[in-house]
Amino acid sequence: MATKYVEKKGKFFVPTKAAKEESLAPQDIYKRAKADRVKLWGELARDGLSWAKPWSKTYEQTSNGFGWFVGGKLNLCYNAVDRHLNNPDQTAIIFVPEDVNEKPQYISYFELYKQVNQAAALLKEKGVKKGDVVAIYLPMIPEALIFMLACARIGAIHSVVFSAFSADALKTRIEDGGAKVLVTANYYSRKGKKVELEKDADKAITGMQVTKIVVDRAKSGKMFEGKADVIVKPEVMESEDIALLLYTSGTTGKPKGVMHAVGGYTVQAYYTSRFVFNLKPGEVMWCTADIGWITGHTYACYGPLLNGATTVIFEGLPNHPTPDRFMQIIEQQKVNVFYTAPTALRMFALEGSDYAKKYKMESLKILGSVGEPIDEKTWMWFFDNIGKGRCPVIDTYWQTETGSAVIMSLPGHGPFIPTYAAVTFPGIEFDVFDEKGKKVPNGKEGILMEKPPYSPALIRGVWKNEERYKKYFVGKLYNAEDNAIMDKNGRFRILGRADDVIKVAGHRLSTAEIEDAIDGLKGVVEAVIVGKNDALRGVVPVAFVKTKGDITEEQVVGKVIERIGPIAKPAEVYFVEDIPKTRSGKMMRRVLRALLHGEDAGNIMTLINPECVNKIKAQVEAKHPELKNVKPVDSKAAPVGKKEDKKK
Ligand code: WTA
Repeated sequence: MATKYVEKKGKFFVPTKAAKEESLAPQDIYKRAKADRVKLWGELARDGLSWAKPWSKTYEQTSNGFGWFVGGKLNLCYNAVDRHLNNPDQTAIIFVPEDVNEKPQYISYFELYKQVNQAAALLKEKGVKKGDVVAIYLPMIPEALIFMLACARIGAIHSVVFSAFSADALKTRIEDGGAKVLVTANYYSRKGKKVELEKDADKAITGMQVTKIVVDRAKSGKMFEGKADVIVKPEVMESEDIALLLYTSGTTGKPKGVMHAVGGYTVQAYYTSRFVFNLKPGEVMWCTADIGWITGHTYACYGPLLNGATTVIFEGLPNHPTPDRFMQIIEQQKVNVFYTAPTALRMFALEGSDYAKKYKMESLKILGSVGEPIDEKTWMWFFDNIGKGRCPVIDTYWQTETGSAVIMSLPGHGPFIPTYAAVTFPGIEFDVFDEKGKKVPNGKEGILMEKPPYSPALIRGVWKNEERYKKYFVGKLYNAEDNAIMDKNGRFRILGRADDVIKVAGHRLSTAEIEDAIDGLKGVVEAVIVGKNDALRGVVPVAFVKTKGDITEEQVVGKVIERIGPIAKPAEVYFVEDIPKTRSGKMMRRVLRALLHGEDAGNIMTLINPECVNKIKAQVEAKHPELKNVKPVDSKAAPVGKKEDKKK
């Protein structure tokens, strides 16, 4: 009988004795954090990782920033790979190709070490030096991790770009980051077809001085086979040197390059993987996130490897060729920790409930959710059908900016409560505030912010944009821009973004970026993107476009695909006469959002063009007759109390 890690106690789920016994997070960890959290991080960092030189100051806060393990020296790749060479045959990476007929590959730590050294030598040969930016535009194949680790080894800064982003999106990120080398692949497999990634890569770098390294997908996992062994010494890095750059979406049309520091990122990636997922040599983790997102960075690559565990890298989609593909992989690869996004779970719940009955998945110990709020129904489906009521569902809250998970229940501590992301990781302190940084009473909605001393992996800067970095802080608080409620026990419920960022199928997108893409079409006067709730994808973008001239829906959608990628394409496009605006010219997204959801649009008296609202309402209802019951918008209705949109 498979071990039971969770049991019901009153309204909650709590860890069993077995879960407590297996827990790598000591039972007194919260107590130690409460006593002195800087001291705790210092002890953890010292005990858990290999440092080339000890630090002189565990935490330092200055007028223009902060630092962790200041003066200390280490190498991220050394910690993730070299130090496990005493266990050389341990599997580091399990690569599962999309094609069921192509055999999975098992790459040991020793093999990984050899390949990372080869990749590091290749990067050096192409002229990459410490501090240089390397763009990585690769699918989910072992080389994605190998080249990331190779960058870390030589002190280069990798900027991984999601392989489903378009050539335009890649170009913007290469230009901003100033990468001189781009690593890509000739193709990858998607639903049985070859996606020719290199073509997009070529398009992106046309006219630029960028050296290209191409991985032949047919040889992935064996790219360097037959080459004479080389050893590249790991570069000794300062703790506060920049480890990596990852572009993410914000409120403006331009993605921002989030910078992470070597020491803090390594320590937090290591400890969250150890304490949240109980990772150690022999444990198999499958984080389904693509390497192009922070979740893939931290929990498909660095976190498991820093702990000497095994990471599953899957090239395909979890429901191809059949909806039980991911359950097959869990069974075949004996996955212990399965970490995914609510979107995927909603899809599985829809298609795969019957399949789930066929699979025992007895290797599973911990289930994790990330990327968007998980509703109770999806949480329970995950718990019952995948975990078979044995495994905790750990809802982890975090962001590209926090580098690693920051709010969750630990598997040996609990409790696990549907719709609660629960408590901050020991050593980290978030709370709920108003926009000005005044604490909001417990139980009331506000904005999630972090109090200093900031978490070790927190963003250190926005690439070439100091001003944008400063905007993250409200006084001394780091503003996460998520709405949240904290209850009297310090447990958080995350309600969704407080800004114009939307999470579409767990992918972070900026409404402004999509708007800019559409604005680029000749004949478009202006466009607004609003997030609409969706049963499967959480939120989908909907476009309201004002034009002069004939523009088709295909053109609008096509432009978004060209500029960003298919993930950002609007689910619906409305061509409108006018876009509701205030007298000061601000677009009223909340009015459009209300119309899309069949809700009362509230007070529109402050609009300069209230007459357009009922026209848009009629257009929305023509597409969605089910929304018709709502009364017409009354311009004298009471204000809804939400502030106007920030843009324009
Ligand atoms: C959202 C992904 C609710 C949130 C790691 C955050 C969540 C944004 C959760 C960051 C969760 C992430 N519950 N919402 N457990 N986890 N989010 O940068 O809005 O791609 O700000 O990082 O995802 O998205 P990002």
